[in-house]
Amino acid sequence: MGDKIIDPQSEEMKFKPSESFAKNANISDPEIYKKAEEDLEGFWGELAEDINWFNKWDTVLEWKPPHSKWFTGGKLNASYNCLDANIEKNGDKPAIIWEGEMGDIRKYTYEELLEETSRFANVLKKIGVKKGDIVTIYMPMIPEIVIAMLACARIGAPHSVVFAAFSGEALCNRISDAKSNLVITCDGYYRRGKVVSQKHKVDEGLICCGQVKDVIVVQHANNDIVMSEGRDMWWHDLMEKTDTKCDSEVMDSEDMLFLMYTSGTTGKPKGIVHTTGGYMVGTHISTKWIFDLKEDDIYWCTADCGWITGHSYLVYGPLSNAATILMYEGAPDYPDKDRFWDIVEKHKVTILYTAPTAIRTFMKWGTEWPEKHDLSTLRLLGSVGEPINPGAWLWYHENIGHGKCPVVDTWWQTETGMIMISALPGITTTKPGSATRAFPGIDAVILDEKGNELEPGQDGLLAIRKPWPSMVRTVHGDEQRFIDTYWSKWDNKTYFAGDGAKMDYDGYFWIIGRVDDIIQVSGHRIGTAEVESILVGHSAVAEAGVVGKIDEIKGEAIWCYVTLKTGFEETEELKTELIKHVAKNIGPFARPKMLIFSDDLPKTRSGKIMRRVLKAIANGAETGDVTTLQDPDVVTTLKEKTAKAQSI
Ligand code: WT7
Repeated sequence: MGDKIIDPQSEEMKFKPSESFAKNANISDPEIYKKAEEDLEGFWGELAEDINWFNKWDTVLEWKPPHSKWFTGGKLNASYNCLDANIEKNGDKPAIIWEGEMGDIRKYTYEELLEETSRFANVLKKIGVKKGDIVTIYMPMIPEIVIAMLACARIGAPHSVVFAAFSGEALCNRISDAKSNLVITCDGYYRRGKVVSQKHKVDEGLICCGQVKDVIVVQHANNDIVMSEGRDMWWHDLMEKTDTKCDSEVMDSEDMLFLMYTSGTTGKPKGIVHTTGGYMVGTHISTKWIFDLKEDDIYWCTADCGWITGHSYLVYGPLSNAATILMYEGAPDYPDKDRFWDIVEKHKVTILYTAPTAIRTFMKWGTEWPEKHDLSTLRLLGSVGEPINPGAWLWYHENIGHGKCPVVDTWWQTETGMIMISALPGITTTKPGSATRAFPGIDAVILDEKGNELEPGQDGLLAIRKPWPSMVRTVHGDEQRFIDTYWSKWDNKTYFAGDGAKMDYDGYFWIIGRVDDIIQVSGHRIGTAEVESILVGHSAVAEAGVVGKIDEIKGEAIWCYVTLKTGFEETEELKTELIKHVAKNIGPFARPKMLIFSDDLPKTRSGKIMRRVLKAIANGAETGDVTTLQDPDVVTTLKEKTAKAQSI
C-alpha cells in the first residue's frame, strides 16, 4: 500500500501482549506451537474433545493427498453445538443482539434461538427438505439468516448462502450449480435509509432457474412485492403453527455442512465444500484462541453472512463458544459516520473484527467520529480480508483500541475455513502490517515457483504443507478444478493459496496479495475473468482486459480496458452503460472504478491478453519484459490513455 516495510528488528514497531491480557488469555503457553508440530493428530484430536459429539471419532485424520478426512466415524451436529450444547449454562443469555439500520433492536437468548431454529427446521422438513438437499439462502443481515443457516444444519441440509448484494443473475448461476430447489429470502432490507427490494431480484433470477419449487420470504422491510402463487410462502405463516422441538440430525463428521461460492480465475464461481466435524473443530478452537472469546464477551464481526467470515466467525465459531454476537443490518455511515462507534458504545462491544477497507474509510472520516463515543469496553480488535497497511493498523490500535487492545490481523480464505495465520493475543508480539505466525498445527511456508522453500526476506508464494481440519474438501461438482486450482502447482500434496508473501527473520508472515487473476475489492473476491465475461457479453464489446489497481481505501479497485466492436463509438454514455452493466450483472460491490477504451490490448503472439502488463500499466509500475507482445507499441498508447483517464 505504499508504506515502507517496517524493519522487523525495530523495537518500537512491536507490540507485546500486556501482562494482564496474557494472564487471562484462553491460550498463553507458547509451548502449544511445539506440541502441535510434534504430534499433529494428537494435537487436533485433543482439541476436538472441546466440541460435542454424539459418537466419538475412530480416526483423527485420513490423508490421501489432496484428500483429507477428519474425525472419521465421529457423529455430531453443528446446530446442536451452537445451540443445545449451550442451553444448560447459558440458556438465558443473549446469543444474538441485532440492530437494524433504522435503529430497531432485537435480541434472542440461546433458548429463543434454539426454539426459532427448531421451528424453522420443522418448517423445512414439512415442505419436504431432506438431509443432503442444498438450500440457497439469499438474505441480508437479519437474525433470520442465522436461524435459516442453523435450521439447515440441524436437519443435515447443506446451505449455500449467496451474499444479498449479488444480482439476480449471480444468484441464478449459484442456484443452478448447486441444484438447489428452495430459496430463503426476504422482501427487502435497508441500505443507507433506502429499501433494497431483495424479492424483486429473486423473481428476476428465477426466470432462468426453473428447478426452484419453493421460495420462503421473510417480511422485513414491508416493501411491495409480488408473491407467486404456489411457489412463494411467507416465513411467518409457515412458522406460526409449527412445533418448536426438533431433534438434531446425526451427521457424519465428513457430511457436507455448507457450500460457499467464491470467485476463481475463470468466469464461473467455485462451490467450495466444507464438511461438519473438521470445520466445527477448526472454527471453534480458532475463535476461542485468536479472539480470546469468553462467555461474557459481546463479539461483533462486521462481515456479512454471505461470505466465509460470516460463516466461521459470526455464526459457527462464536456460537459454539456460547458468545453473544452482535449483528448490524446496515451501512457504517447511516445516519452518520459514527454508527459503528454508537453501536460499540450502546451494546458494550468487547471484541471487534472488521476489514482494512473499513478501517481506512474510518481514517479518512477522521477521529472526531470515534471520539464522540465511549469505546472503553473494547478489549481486542481483529482485521481480515486483505493486507492491512501498517498505517491503518496503527490508527486502529490507537484510535479505536486506545493503545490497550491487541490487534489480530488474520489471514485465511474461503477454502481454508478457519484462520491460518494470526497472532494469538496472549502470546504473540505483533508487528503492524504482519499477520504474524501460522496457527499451531498449520504448516505455512514460502515457496518459489518450483516448490523450493525460500529464505526469510524473499518474496514467494504462500503454501501450506500439512492438512488441517477445516480445509476445503472439493469444488462442488468439479473435482478436477479442485485439484488443478489448489494442488497441482507443486506435488499434489502442498496447498497453493494463490497469495504472494514473505517471511521475516522472526518467522512472521507479510502477505503481499493475490498472484493470480483475482481482485480483492474491499476484501471481496472478484475474478478478473468474471468481469471480462460480463463485459464481452455486452453487444458493443469485442474484448476486455480487467485488472486490479491499488486503491487507497478499497485495497484494490476494478479497472477495465475495453475494445469495442466496429460500428460502436467510444462515448461517455457507453462507458457509463458498461460500468452499470457489470454492477447489474454481478452486484454493486463489483462496480468498475475505471473503464478505458482502447483499440488494442497487450497480447501474446498467440492472442492471449497479458493481464500482467495491463496491471502494471494501471498501477503505473514497470511493465517489465514486453518483447513477447504481438505489438509492443500498444503499451505506450495504453500508458497515455491511462494517464489521461486518471487526470480527469
Ligand atoms: C483472500 C481470500 C478470509 C475471509 C475474507 C476473504 C486475502 C484475507 C487477509 C489478511 C492479507 C488477506 C488473501 C486471500 N486476505 N485475509 N489478513 N491479510 N490478505 O476471503 O474471499 O476467500 O479471500 O483474501 O488474498 O487469498 P476470500
